[in-house]
Amino acid sequence: MTMTPQAQREEVSRAPFVLGVGGSLRQPSQSEAALRLALRGAEEAGAVTALITGAGLDLPLYSSSHADHPAVLRLLASARRADGLILASPAYHGSISGAVKNALDYLQFLSDDDPPYLDGRAIGAVSTGLGTQAAVQTVDALRNVAHALRAWPTPIGVAIHEITRVYQNNEITDARTAELLRTMGAQVVAFARSRRLLHDLEALRQEADVEALAHGPG
Ligand SMILES: Cc1cc2nc3c(=O)[nH]c(=O)nc-3n(C[C@H](O)[C@H](O)[C@H](O)COP(=O)(O)O)c2cc1C
Repeated sequence: MTMTPQAQREEVSRAPFVLGVGGSLRQPSQSEAALRLALRGAEEAGAVTALITGAGLDLPLYSSSHADHPAVLRLLASARRADGLILASPAYHGSISGAVKNALDYLQFLSDDDPPYLDGRAIGAVSTGLGTQAAVQTVDALRNVAHALRAWPTPIGVAIHEITRVYQNNEITDARTAELLRTMGAQVVAFARSRRLLHDLEALRQEADVEALAHGPG
């Protein structure tokens, strides 16, 4: 379908939409606080954001029969709209929490989309854990899931460990950690913008090809 020039202008100026998914079911949640800060970084870079956390993660265990569950519908609609995502999980016994993995399993419903899953989308990954090892492993696990969903993990991932030194009253007070989270959010936005530019260039190239064919020799 060919877009009108105005629709093209609107598409180009549309702010990237970045979706945060994660945190935990407990309140306050340290991983949710980290996710919110990363989303703020994305907003500062010009994105519009949304967050699925807390009750939004309280989904039935994945089954293909739960497609009509209201929280599943919201997750899928937001993921489809997203130009990039930020995933956050507490470290539970060395890896992603069950709630976050379960939410990500629901992205199986995007398998028949065009493009499928999270193809072409950047993903930032954040974890919190009492210790270093589990926090790092959890960022790795989030990135492995992102790869399986055909997404592109950002260069920066943020594993927050020894959490008592980083948080005060559930706010991240460590300046270095805060900076890393915001920068990661901005990286998601930068990737989304680059992808859109490539997409627009390809559309222009195809239009030029059609024009050339229409006005070609003969
Ligand atoms: C079930 C469970 C398992 C956990 N396992 C680990 C672990 O293996 N390594 C670790 O460093 N912290 C572990 N923790 C601590 C949490 O990762 C840490 O408190 C995290 O910051 C909690 O995030 P939240 O406030 O978003 O729930 C565990 C906590 C729970 C409840």
